[in-house]
Amino acid sequence: MSSFPSVLESIDDLNKNQIDLLISLAHRYKELNNSPVNSFEKTPIVATNFLENSTRTKHSFAIAIQKLGAIHLEFNAETSSLKKGESLEETLLTLHYQGVDACVIRTNISHQFHEFKKSPPIKIINGGDGTNEHPTQALLDLFTFKNYFDGVDKLKGKTITIIGDIRHSRVSHSLMKLLPQYGMKIILCGPNNFLPEEKQAEGIVINQNRDEALKDSDLVYMLRIQNERHSQSNSKEPFSLSDYISNYGVHIDTIKKLKITPPIFHPGPCNIGVELDQALVKSNLYMGYEQVVNSIPMRMAILHAILNNNDHNIGKINGEKIKFSAN
Ligand code: NCD
Repeated sequence: MSSFPSVLESIDDLNKNQIDLLISLAHRYKELNNSPVNSFEKTPIVATNFLENSTRTKHSFAIAIQKLGAIHLEFNAETSSLKKGESLEETLLTLHYQGVDACVIRTNISHQFHEFKKSPPIKIINGGDGTNEHPTQALLDLFTFKNYFDGVDKLKGKTITIIGDIRHSRVSHSLMKLLPQYGMKIILCGPNNFLPEEKQAEGIVINQNRDEALKDSDLVYMLRIQNERHSQSNSKEPFSLSDYISNYGVHIDTIKKLKITPPIFHPGPCNIGVELDQALVKSNLYMGYEQVVNSIPMRMAILHAILNNNDHNIGKINGEKIKFSAN
């Protein structure tokens, strides 16, 4: 995939053709039980740099890197020179000149990778940036929905209801850019404080009545309350957890009384007893573990595409490729 971007910050960085290719590549990896589909000329080195907590994304990238046959460098931010005041750009350039090919980064700063797009210090995959985006989670979710409905063309006209803290969720922001491209309709459901402030694109509607929204859903996507990101919000409406649970929590009984029971997705981490109950998570309607399974082949596909993009303009300094001799 020679045209694949060197900085994958947002779903907006990909065209539909590239997304389709990622889906078919992920499909091939899944069929091969996550064995590599080709070998690299030289063994790539991929660093993971998680500047914010992570279980699923961090480990799934670590596994995908190793399944591809690449070398994994786990970057420890706490013991790195970032703690001595070095900028992220300097750190990434250093990794590049050490021979690292790509870096998966998670940060709590929204849009932190945007400035690297013009002249990337290294190939970058966004593993989640603040409240902005989480493109690889949305891509693996799309892959999971496609598998569930047995074909990407079957997604057209399907309605997904996203329930929870949509405003502060980077996953929801990526899903809202990705799913309408496949003809999916989106219902957003949550209290005022958790709904997006900006106007929604075509095909995305708001319904704050959970039971009504569920009746019209082919799939349901639950989000946890993103407490650690609420300081970035300017809304100061009072919040009651017990009201939230009764109005927006989804329990096995909430689902069982529907005529058609939709599958329940969750990117994790899941706060059992808040957005979902234990019985639902343990039921066969819960698809959260299926998303985890599919995260490996989709992240293998994304790494495969970025490592093979033949971009020789990485690591420029002041717009020039650095030379280490006087002439
Ligand atoms: C999400 C994240 O970190 O953005 N989780 C994930 O990567 N699987 C969702 C969240 O934090 O709620």
